[in-house]
Amino acid sequence: MNHSKPRILCVDDEHLNLSLLDAMLTPRGYDVIAAVNGPQALEKIRTERIDICLLDVMMPGMDGFEVCRRIKSDELHANIPVVMITAFADTEHRIRGIEAGAEDFISKPFDAAEVLARIKMLLHVKGLNDRLNSACHDIAKLSAFGEQIIINFDPANFDFQEKIDSIVQQIIRSRFDLKDSPQIVVIGMVDQAGSSHWLRYDSSRAATEKSAISMDLDRRLAFSDNALPIVVYYNETDAELAASTLVGELKKQSIPVFNLVRYSNDSFCLIALNYGREVTPLDATVLNSVVMQSLFLKSLASQVRDTESAFEYTVFALARASEANDEETGDHILRVGTYCALLAGQLGLPEKFVQMIRIQAALHDVGKIHVSPAILKKNAKLTDDEWQEMKMHTVHGSEIIGGHHRMGMAARIALSHHERFDGSGYPYGLSGEQIPLEGRILSLADQYDALRNARCYKPAFDHETTCRIILEGDGRSMPQHFDPAVLRAFRMLERQFAEGYETLIRQKSWSRPLNVPPGQTAGLPGGNGVLRHAAN
Ligand SMILES: [Fe+2]
Ligand SMILES: [Fe+2]
Repeated sequence: MNHSKPRILCVDDEHLNLSLLDAMLTPRGYDVIAAVNGPQALEKIRTERIDICLLDVMMPGMDGFEVCRRIKSDELHANIPVVMITAFADTEHRIRGIEAGAEDFISKPFDAAEVLARIKMLLHVKGLNDRLNSACHDIAKLSAFGEQIIINFDPANFDFQEKIDSIVQQIIRSRFDLKDSPQIVVIGMVDQAGSSHWLRYDSSRAATEKSAISMDLDRRLAFSDNALPIVVYYNETDAELAASTLVGELKKQSIPVFNLVRYSNDSFCLIALNYGREVTPLDATVLNSVVMQSLFLKSLASQVRDTESAFEYTVFALARASEANDEETGDHILRVGTYCALLAGQLGLPEKFVQMIRIQAALHDVGKIHVSPAILKKNAKLTDDEWQEMKMHTVHGSEIIGGHHRMGMAARIALSHHERFDGSGYPYGLSGEQIPLEGRILSLADQYDALRNARCYKPAFDHETTCRIILEGDGRSMPQHFDPAVLRAFRMLERQFAEGYETLIRQKSWSRPLNVPPGQTAGLPGGNGVLRHAAN
């Protein structure tokens, strides 16, 4: 691999000394940069990559001590080792040099073997320091990135593949000269069926390219076979690496391997390849910290989704239980939830509201569990007492749902879905914006579905008739019963209501929550409360 040569800045006002240093260093594989005074040296340090600085003390203008002080007071370049070359071997000069921040001293006339030995040692120390700094920098950068992931963590929409893509973008080399980053990253993931899938990210060209590859690796070789993750690092000098099946398989994929760091657990494997320098356990630590964080969020997201799914299932189970004596069917609550979501979306409400009303609308009539089946199924006009009992399903509903903060919307819907915008509804005769928005939305969605379905006292209306009744009124249902904004939204969406209704009737599965198996939503036939009793 093309490791670039160490670059040595030689600063001396004597051209002869510069030539001597050049003649000594260039043949030994060093890149020599020359400067003849202090300001020129500082300019080179500011504009070029310098690995070590050999600095003459006695120079006209700015002396070596001052140049050294300026290098060391500059945070960006303070890590460049400075060797002072002095004709004065006395203690006072050495102390001044140490105070200025110099790492080492060489006396003039210098001995070539000594100069080379010191340069080698200082470059080694600098290399170790650079790696430590680089690892600290990477960890700080990735921690900040991880913090953003956690701040924006949304379990419902957490996309693990997307997170891995953005993590790879953080760690992969963005420029060829960034030696501390890998040039290629290979990711392996095991899906739920146990098959492994591999992706290769390559930054060799202008932009990072991502492509699927098929690695023929035994699972035990690619993934950890127990819960503990494996983190390994290899350099090209390792004979073990060269002979390993993993490297053989990578090479078969036309992936060159000079060094690699690999993290793997039982379902995930990340291999970072071809750093521009040798890899160390620090690189493995950096990789480990960021991958662990994403895997943790993945597991958390999956658990939260499971809980959400169970929550939705329970909401629908309760809604279905309450319909045992009602004529509404489980499909009615699914359709109403979907109409509500359509209306909420059209009204520009946040996605969270839209998703919440889609589910929680299911409980709007849960209070009917307290209403006598004789009243729910009665085909004749209700007596005053029966009508009073019927109206109480709103209050019972909100009491059954209770005060849990997750169910606040469902409770408000149950209590307010028969209120009317003009104040003619029940149970409290609220009007306008006194009625919660979710109740105003449900009122229209419920009415649409009730009109579309046949009841023992009325036929099923087609979409056009239903729209006319809602938008123009028929004496029982009047436009002023509805929030004008919700009516406007309905007017915009009415084709989607029609399509949605037809689709659901045909498929019986439209908008069904994930965990509600088909066939479990059917309720018992009975009488519709909305239209019939609204006329009472
Ligand atoms: Fe109701
Ligand atoms: Fe309903």
